[in-house]
Amino acid sequence: MLDVRLRTVLSLVEPCKVLADVGTDHGYLPLEALKSGICEHAFAADLNELPLKRAQDTFAQSDVKDRVVFIRCSGIRDIPDPIDAVVIAGMGAETVMQIVTEDLERFRSIPQIILQVNKDVESLRRFMVQRGFDIVDEAITYKRHYYVVVKFAPSASHPEYNPFQLKYGPILLSQKDPIFLNHLTSRLNHVLDLASRVSHENKREAFVLEADAIRNVLDKES
Ligand SMILES: C[S@@+](CC[C@H](N)C(=O)[O-])C[C@H]1O[C@@H](n2cnc3c(N)ncnc32)[C@H](O)[C@@H]1O
Repeated sequence: MLDVRLRTVLSLVEPCKVLADVGTDHGYLPLEALKSGICEHAFAADLNELPLKRAQDTFAQSDVKDRVVFIRCSGIRDIPDPIDAVVIAGMGAETVMQIVTEDLERFRSIPQIILQVNKDVESLRRFMVQRGFDIVDEAITYKRHYYVVVKFAPSASHPEYNPFQLKYGPILLSQKDPIFLNHLTSRLNHVLDLASRVSHENKREAFVLEADAIRNVLDKES
């Protein structure tokens, strides 16, 4: 039932007692998490009534419906403690950052925070790292677009990430999944194109440096 994007999101959730899916909409992710035993109980939360109704309909015929609670709220605001893992997927980075900001201290008590934004994952990584979260896992998939999933945890070690790692993902850069290498190759072409067209010298220099850094990663693979 899950598409490849949500399967990739769920693949970063380690088995836990309580999973909260924020912005659940159709509720497919908590349904699959319960059915496959990844979590024992789930909260399916959404800000809006219609998506929450869709989630309730998804669970209506299911034999795990007694282990899910539907909550209408922003972010994790009305979801009770404890939450062992939270998923926020399919939203814009700005919305996700706002949700985390609204309840920052509670997010600091959640061991698994799995985020998938449709654009600007770089800003999301920087935002989370600046607020004391570590990047503990990442995954990428492709279905018409590249989708990047980042898993954060409250920081114990405060590692330093350089700008290139924040842009492309420290774990993706080290794991070199073939889908990620395809993504880097298309980024390289895009960055080279920008470098050839931009007139501002400083910007051109930045694109050239980025292209060199990407080539460096790709060359080590070939
Ligand atoms: C595009 S859907 C994503 C559905 C699902 N998570 C997925 O990845 O397929 C985004 C959902 O987030 C909900 N949403 C938007 N802002 C929210 C917020 N602050 N708190 C909770 N849900 C929110 C919307 O109502 C919508 O149902």
